[in-house]
Amino acid sequence: MAINPPVDATTTQAWKALDEHLSALRAEGINLKQWFADDADRVDALSFDAGDLHFDFSKNLIKPQTLALFADLAKQVKLDERINQQYTGVHINNTEDRAVLHTALRRPASDEGKYIVDGQDVVKDVRETLDRIYAFANRVRSGEWTGVSGKKIETVVNIGIGGSDLGPVMVYEALKPYADAGISARYVSNIDPNDLAEKTKGLDPETTLFIVVSKTFTTLETLTNARCARTWLLDALQANGAIDGSEAARKDAVAKHFVAVSTNLEKVAEFGIDPNNAFGFWNWVGGRYSVDSAVGTSLAVVFGPERFEEFLQGFHAIDEYFATTPFEKNAVVIMGMLNVWYRNFFKVASHAVLPYDQYLHRFPAYLQQLTMESNGKSVRWDGTPVTTDTGEIFWGEPGTNGQHAFYQLIHQGTQLIPADFIAFVNTPNPTKDGDQDVHELFLGNYLAQTKALAFGKTADEVRAEGTPEEIVPARVFEGNRPTTSILGDALTPFSLGELIALYEHVTLVEGTVWGVDSYDQWGVELGKQLAKQITPAISQDDDALAAQDASTQSLIQFYRAHR
Ligand code: F6P
Repeated sequence: MAINPPVDATTTQAWKALDEHLSALRAEGINLKQWFADDADRVDALSFDAGDLHFDFSKNLIKPQTLALFADLAKQVKLDERINQQYTGVHINNTEDRAVLHTALRRPASDEGKYIVDGQDVVKDVRETLDRIYAFANRVRSGEWTGVSGKKIETVVNIGIGGSDLGPVMVYEALKPYADAGISARYVSNIDPNDLAEKTKGLDPETTLFIVVSKTFTTLETLTNARCARTWLLDALQANGAIDGSEAARKDAVAKHFVAVSTNLEKVAEFGIDPNNAFGFWNWVGGRYSVDSAVGTSLAVVFGPERFEEFLQGFHAIDEYFATTPFEKNAVVIMGMLNVWYRNFFKVASHAVLPYDQYLHRFPAYLQQLTMESNGKSVRWDGTPVTTDTGEIFWGEPGTNGQHAFYQLIHQGTQLIPADFIAFVNTPNPTKDGDQDVHELFLGNYLAQTKALAFGKTADEVRAEGTPEEIVPARVFEGNRPTTSILGDALTPFSLGELIALYEHVTLVEGTVWGVDSYDQWGVELGKQLAKQITPAISQDDDALAAQDASTQSLIQFYRAHR
């Protein structure tokens, strides 16, 4: 089915209405303190529950009536059509002529037979692959699957990059308290040899299992690292006396210590990994939307199939919520529209994501690929230029570390930086410092920051503290710095699945308003091609060197002179 050209959001009546709405708010004065004082229902009107996550949008630069305008814009850019096309497998990734079906990865088995896409029963295929992954994970976890010398696997090393790394490593870090089989994981991504060197340091090759994850199985970094890991493994096993140097022993060792995840099972076989030890996925799963596919095999091994299922159920809960909740009270749509509101109407360039949970310390990095590879685009899905700014920069660090680093700029800098504050009521590590519950101290900071950002501190309040007059301006906080508070019960496999699905769909909402294909990533190709051309010039090929621009030549000359 051909897809319609995108609606130009900037020409819609809803866009105009939002523009006028902002002018009216500015004329009245954007003043959160005042808005809270004027409207006793503000918090209720701007708070929502989605799955088991609670959202408080009240500290954003909107009024309750703004939500209807957001909903109008969503309707006028045909968000409902886009969601429906995505969920049912229309090739909405039109520059690659692919369906976008990550929602099928977490559908229950009862949905088998309901989604036949390009002749494939996608849910049936997903469940069959999951069954294979779960059987494998159980064998590794129980010790039935052993290394070549019969020892139980204690470490899995995931080799992948981009979507084949960022999701798994983020989830591994986030769910560490659930690792219950005596198996830990390490993640190698960078082609910088330092990465593999550090990640294999101290490992016992006899108890190490490598999972090579690459959608295409052609990615330079991953295949190079996989080959180097194979060399490390075989050399180390031989040095240990665990294998002799025969070809048969080496082959057996690779079979026991290497498995693969890919859509390209032919290339997996070419690499020397037994296709029986490979787990597939499909070209309708984008790399940055793949952590809940076979790409998450390391997670199924470390946390177990039951936890992985709970993780999938969390995604599915938000998928259903997003697709079925009216736009004006749909927390996912509201979050996406708030991002559009700030990016396009307030002209902000960046958006902070600030988890108040140390286990989520890789979440902002994960979101950077999800959001920026998806919506960092200048043309729309019909090839025409975008009509407004797209893709804001996502960044962040866990609280309270960020507070002692960059929050100064968020509080008092000259640019507006909307921020999402994420926290959980319960911690797996309850701790007392004397009478003080440390988690409550932590949450006190979470609450204090959004309060300070919203309501600030006036010059009179500063003076009242006895501050000398010349220092007063430096200690004033303007306030009116927008934040969204997201609060959950506990960081579990389920709630983490919810959080990821939330941001996946927020990305879709923004991409639909901007009319971009959020599922291609042509912008990463040129650098890859040039790296292939330039690498030979670095040490040997003078003709290749001569073909470079003056700056590249000069840098290579510096390299040659100092090597
Ligand atoms: O270079 C970008 C990219 O294609 C990402 O979209 C992807 O997640 C990553 O490379 C890794 O690709 P692969 O899984 O095919 O190795």
